[in-house]
Amino acid sequence: MPTLAVIVCSTRPGRIGLPIATWFTGVAEAQGSFDVQLVDLKEVALPIFDEPNHPMLADYVHEHTRRWSAIVAGADAIVFVTPEYNHSFNAATKNAIDHLHREWQHKAVGFVSYGGVSGGIRAVEALLPVCSALRMVPSVAAVVLPFPFSRVDDDGTFTGDDGMVGAANAMLGELARWTEALAPLRT
Ligand SMILES: Cc1cc2nc3c(=O)[nH]c(=O)nc-3n(C[C@H](O)[C@H](O)[C@H](O)COP(=O)(O)O)c2cc1C
Repeated sequence: MPTLAVIVCSTRPGRIGLPIATWFTGVAEAQGSFDVQLVDLKEVALPIFDEPNHPMLADYVHEHTRRWSAIVAGADAIVFVTPEYNHSFNAATKNAIDHLHREWQHKAVGFVSYGGVSGGIRAVEALLPVCSALRMVPSVAAVVLPFPFSRVDDDGTFTGDDGMVGAANAMLGELARWTEALAPLRT
């Protein structure tokens, strides 16, 4: 079964990104197309990009980059669970993306976005050209969550409604088809 890395993009104390990513991970496991791995950028804890060589060379000098490289290389598809910060995605995500190069290539990518009235779609629109530069292939089906805050309870559990689950399943189906189609390019 292909592996899907669900990346928690927010690293902020009190973030709702982790509850949302945990909910999506449960939906993805139930959907059954992928072996699902939750990847938390807060735990990955990369410094601001400090590699001397272009990531295209994969000649990493830092152990933190090698660890991050192994995580992304081990995934066949990616989902970014992204907040919207100042009409874009957050700095931790750009930093994590920029650390690597080949590890992203020819992988299907999906987006679970959240925020105010935009539901985080401006973050996704800003992520698309970055993903494209790294030869990732985006799912058009996406999960967009406007004002998800009241859906996180005191225990930090996010509960999605049927529409949200439906959107997640549609995206997972598209990601599964792209993941299979792109497999020859990843070998
Ligand atoms: C620095 C910063 C900038 C933000 N800018 C936006 C924005 O442009 N659009 C929006 O919908 N929400 C914005 N918000 C509100 C976030 O949607 C909200 O805080 C959300 O909980 C952030 O995700 P997180 O809790 O997982 O970090 C911003 C929040 C922060 C901290």
